Amino acid sequence: MPADAPPPAPVRALSGIQPTGRFHWGNYFGAIRQYIDLQPGAGRPQSEAYYFIADLHALTTVREPARLRSLVHDAAVDLVSLGLDPARATLFVQSDVPEVTELTWLLMTVAPMGLLERCHAYKDKKSRGLPADAGLFTYPVLMSADILAYDATVVPVGEDQVQHIEVCRDLAGAFNHLYGEVFTLPKPRLVEGGAKVPGTDGQKMSKSYDNTIEVFEDPAAQKKKIMRITTDSRPMEEPKAPDEDHLFQLYSLMADDGERARMAELYRRGGFGYGEVKKALVDAAARFFAEARARRAALESDPARIEDILADGARRARAKAGEVLARARRACGLERRTAGGRP
Ligand code: ADP
Ligand code: TRP
Repeated sequence: MPADAPPPAPVRALSGIQPTGRFHWGNYFGAIRQYIDLQPGAGRPQSEAYYFIADLHALTTVREPARLRSLVHDAAVDLVSLGLDPARATLFVQSDVPEVTELTWLLMTVAPMGLLERCHAYKDKKSRGLPADAGLFTYPVLMSADILAYDATVVPVGEDQVQHIEVCRDLAGAFNHLYGEVFTLPKPRLVEGGAKVPGTDGQKMSKSYDNTIEVFEDPAAQKKKIMRITTDSRPMEEPKAPDEDHLFQLYSLMADDGERARMAELYRRGGFGYGEVKKALVDAAARFFAEARARRAALESDPARIEDILADGARRARAKAGEVLARARRACGLERRTAGGRP
């Protein structure tokens, strides 16, 4: 770098994940792993990271309070177990930051109906003739507030969320155009290669397709699921192209380079059974997540620790969101009236 080059712009990463079920391999390799890589550390001293559990968004689908409570708790334990480090990233629960819901309203006043009508979560539901509520319709506005409240510059997400980041940029742009430079425009960061993790039936792994393998599933149940992964019916002797096979794709995610190359060779040579590949996948998955499972066991035996982590995260997140909200309120002419004078 030349001596007079400007210092690299600080990166503030932010993402949210909905607690609508236990995390599966698709969530880990498609989203969570990237959150962990973006945490500030030795290689990225300038950066900051905010990650939250999107319980307000989950309310559009989870309508049982006890289930929501336990899903939020499990999501927090899972994220920390998988390597999200509360000393390096701010981890919090979305609804612990009420500033974001107020900001949602401010953004709603500049959100064109047509833009929201084109958003896929609402559009898909409507096209299937299902009733949609205003929560689902305005879902991308809440998501925009989530991002803008922390001056996020980079939002790691899967392909399916890119449209929502575009909405966020549009709303931020519209607000800034009216009231001055209040919001920082974020950019999406797609997982490298746009990886789609296949499920047990070869389609994209997703809760909605009932084809998931959960990260922290009981090992015996997980093994059963792996052994039932669908395979094609060609005879064992026939050579196969590894990259076209979803079982191989899953194995590749967890095997090391040497193992991956050896397995690819077996596929090309033919004369092996899928059962062998499945057994290798069971072992590779056990090894890959062994450390995370150990961390999870330790955290589960100390429930107060996760609550402390979330309370501390909420405090840090509120401090930042409070600044941004105050900026937005001032810009559009809202005063905060407090007893005794200035806020
Ligand atoms: P689901 O489809 O099971 O409901 P979500 O929509 O809650 O999963 O996904 C949460 C995050 O995980 C998103 O960022 C999404 O892009 C990512 N993700 C989910 N499934 C996969 C998959 N099969 N491959 C890659 N990424 C995925
Ligand atoms: N809508 C995202 C999903 O379903 C979750 C989410 C909510 C989010 N708020 C966000 C993601 C802000 C990134 C930034 O996956």
